[in-house]
Amino acid sequence: MGLLFFLALLFGASCAQLTENFYDQTCPRLPNIVRQEVKRAIETDIRAGAKLIRFHFHDCFVQGCDGSVLLEDAPGIDSELNGQGNLGIQGLEIVDAIKAAVESECPGVVSCADVLALAAKQSVDVQGGPSWRVLFGRRDSRTANRTGADELPSPFETLEPLKKKFEAVGLDSTDLVALSGAHTFGRSRCMFFSGRFSNFNGTGQPDPTLDPAYRQELERGCTDGETRVNFDPTTPDTFDKNYYTNLQANRGLLTSDQVLFSTPGADTIEIVNRLGSREGTFFRQFRVSMIKMGNIRPLTGNQGEIRRNCRRVNELGGEAGHDVM
Ligand code: HEM
Ligand SMILES: *[C@@H]1O[C@H](CO)[C@@H](O)[C@H](O)[C@H]1NC(C)=O
Ligand SMILES: *[C@@H]1O[C@H](CO)[C@@H](O)[C@H](O)[C@H]1NC(C)=O
Repeated sequence: MGLLFFLALLFGASCAQLTENFYDQTCPRLPNIVRQEVKRAIETDIRAGAKLIRFHFHDCFVQGCDGSVLLEDAPGIDSELNGQGNLGIQGLEIVDAIKAAVESECPGVVSCADVLALAAKQSVDVQGGPSWRVLFGRRDSRTANRTGADELPSPFETLEPLKKKFEAVGLDSTDLVALSGAHTFGRSRCMFFSGRFSNFNGTGQPDPTLDPAYRQELERGCTDGETRVNFDPTTPDTFDKNYYTNLQANRGLLTSDQVLFSTPGADTIEIVNRLGSREGTFFRQFRVSMIKMGNIRPLTGNQGEIRRNCRRVNELGGEAGHDVM
């Protein structure tokens, strides 16, 4: 009796955990399918990987890694895609293509939340970054939280509010600095940093923590707010530690990037220096922090569902809505 109770507890607990081998029986080729689709996407769009990892980040920060970011407006769904932090986000059709490939081989088995986690890893890998063991077993939400998407970390924020938003989901200063290192690839629209060029924050001066030569280069590149500029001026599409050496040279693109190094007395300065010192050090920490981010409040067991189409919840009772679990 005591043993049975113990086993029941153990089983219940293990059900709520993400595991590496979750799809070993039900979709053994999952990593290959996703890798092939990610590579295919990057062949036609060098930014595809950057778009995919950003989706995973924005998914995990709003009600946990549950695919909520992918839901479009529908009755009962106030889409996170219209939230302040997601306006203009790109790459939903890349997620669709990956999910479709997975569905054609393993229908109704793999969640959109897990597809994002795996696609993020494959993206970093393809662009020259570290690889890590993705944990699986997340299920997809039947809800979205628009307010959460309005409150995602903002590029205009200073260090303390950024740290608070990361702490709220269980991520510390080291995770903040390591995960921000994803800004070693991809682009940002000028509207998110052009306020640093002049009269920064009402001071009448440019942002003093923005290198003047780099500022002039950016000003020339920014024809309007919608123009996209490389996050990393040195190696724009390679996943490497240059994000940190850029910060050390006052060449961080967003305020939220540069404050990690330029906030007087901040604990993040030492972390930037450490992660910028050797690529292996950055890569080791990035792996740890990505797994930690991927563990934020997942739905597991019989919570949520396995969405067929990442953009909308399954129709309950409909032919495609039947969930075996
Ligand atoms: C620390 C807080 C963060 C802030 C304030 C922030 C903000 C931004 C902004 C404003 C953009 C440009 C969006 C646009 O032009 O539409 C961007 C792009 C990007 N972000 Fe972040 N970000 C943060 C953290 C992260 C994290 C943790 C990751 C991933 C682990 C990430 C990955 C990316 C990538 C790869 C891009 C480029 C996407 C593309 O080229 O389409 N960011 N971020
Ligand atoms: C949505 O997110 C906001 C901000 O994080 C939170 O305060 C609120 O409780 C969430 N709403 C639901 C229904 O979970
Ligand atoms: C802008 O100014 C306000 C008020 O002085 C200050 O609290 C804030 O930290 C400043 N923001 C930046 C990015 O320097």
